[in-house]
Order: sequence, then structure tokens, then C-alpha cells
Amino acid sequence: MSGNWERAFDAHDVPVGEVRVTTIGDHRIAICNYDGEFFAVQDVCTHDNGPLGQGCLEDDEIECPRHGARFSIRTGAATLMPAVMPVRTFPVRRDGDAILVQVP
Ligand code: FES
Repeated sequence: MSGNWERAFDAHDVPVGEVRVTTIGDHRIAICNYDGEFFAVQDVCTHDNGPLGQGCLEDDEIECPRHGARFSIRTGAATLMPAVMPVRTFPVRRDGDAILVQVP
């Protein structure tokens, strides 16, 4: 995927095991800190547009707060019903304390 690298958060703003939501361009993106590693997924559940970023992390999966679907934060794959379609993921890298996300 090509696109610009945009600053999403400072690393200390997203503690281990937590999720924070931001908007970059047209994208609502949930930044997840799994064991010190950062991942970015779209903040919209593919089941019924639930606010995925308000859900909890269970290991490297995020659970939608609306009906409990789960998605891999690594691949975006739906891992638990009622969702079947994957969520979009975005490349993430660190630049010092900044968490950068690549958006198209
Ligand atoms: S909207 Fe996410 S599980 Fe239904």
C-alpha cells in the first residue's frame, strides 16, 4: 500500500492493552497497543458499523462492543461471529515517540 505516513499519537498516549481512536483524512483508525507493539485497524466494525475502537483487546484481537465480534489486529480477519468480513488494517511504525500510520 502506498500513502503518507501520518502521526497518530505519541506512544505514551496508548498504554499497553489499550486502544485509542483518531481520524486521519477520511479514515477513523483505532490504534492498539498489544504488549508494546502497535497495530492500526479501521474503527468501524464490518458487522453493523459498530465503534470497534471502543472495544477491548483480548490478546491480539479486538472485540466489538456492540455484538461481540472479534478481529485480528494483525490481519484484520474476523475471528468470531457475528462478523465475517475483515476490517481494514494500516501499516504502523515508530519514529521516536511518535506512532505513525500509513494512510492511502
Ligand atoms: S456491530 Fe460489531 S459485532 Fe455487531
